[in-house]
Amino acid sequence: MSGIDYRIEDHGELHGDVLLFGGPYSNLEALQALLEIAEERGIPQANRVCTGDIVAYCADPQVTFDRVLFDCGIVVAGNCEKQLAADADNCGCGFQDGSVCDMASKTWFPYAAARMEDWRDVMEEMSDMAVFTHNGKRYAVIHGGLSDISRYLWPVSPDSAFEEEIAAIEAELGPIDGVIAGHCGLPFEKRIGTHHWINAGVIGMPPNDGHPDTRFAILFDGGVKFERLPYAFYSAASSMQAAGLTQGYDASLNSGRWPSEEILPQELRRRV
Ligand SMILES: [Fe+2]
Repeated sequence: MSGIDYRIEDHGELHGDVLLFGGPYSNLEALQALLEIAEERGIPQANRVCTGDIVAYCADPQVTFDRVLFDCGIVVAGNCEKQLAADADNCGCGFQDGSVCDMASKTWFPYAAARMEDWRDVMEEMSDMAVFTHNGKRYAVIHGGLSDISRYLWPVSPDSAFEEEIAAIEAELGPIDGVIAGHCGLPFEKRIGTHHWINAGVIGMPPNDGHPDTRFAILFDGGVKFERLPYAFYSAASSMQAAGLTQGYDASLNSGRWPSEEILPQELRRRV
């Protein structure tokens, strides 16, 4: 045990397909599209897993937060929820002062904070980590890392970084087979020794691939599959513009490109 008093929820055993997603980012249109898919496929509320950052860049923080908590059975806090609950003045991503992301957060974060004031207690109570069993395998659900909720673990990060987090998780939970994480915004899976690391990606912002579709994942009996989420991105972007959230993320919803690649490791940046 680390001595840190993590909030951990055990959800027991899940049966059937499990919906995995991260980063709704106050993007209500994307969340609605995802929940429609879950309904169409008969994925019950108990089998819907959100890796946090429900509230961020987009225009509808309250309704998005409310629907995720109501419609999804397993939800862990992201750094955005932690920072909003603490009445902090930034999202806690550690963006460099004056960077594009830092400047944008000076607008969207206070916008979200003003609208989430009455929800601080609820955000404060959110779990740091969840655990469930599926198809004989035990999975932990976290946001970025357990040792650091805002840790960026990319598909190209060294195995040692993943191993550190797996060790921290197992110190709390005992042996696990896999980790379901979010935060970095890119969907990927990786084998780390005997462990399966799954980043379900985010539904609220495209993965910087030049297309507006976002991503989610399905955990099924044979493994995990990543899927595209088509949704009314133009409507989400218009809502942002109407709300004055015009610092770059609104354009990203349409273009599929992030406002800046400064957070990305060099090898993942777009080459033109
Ligand atoms: Fe995050």
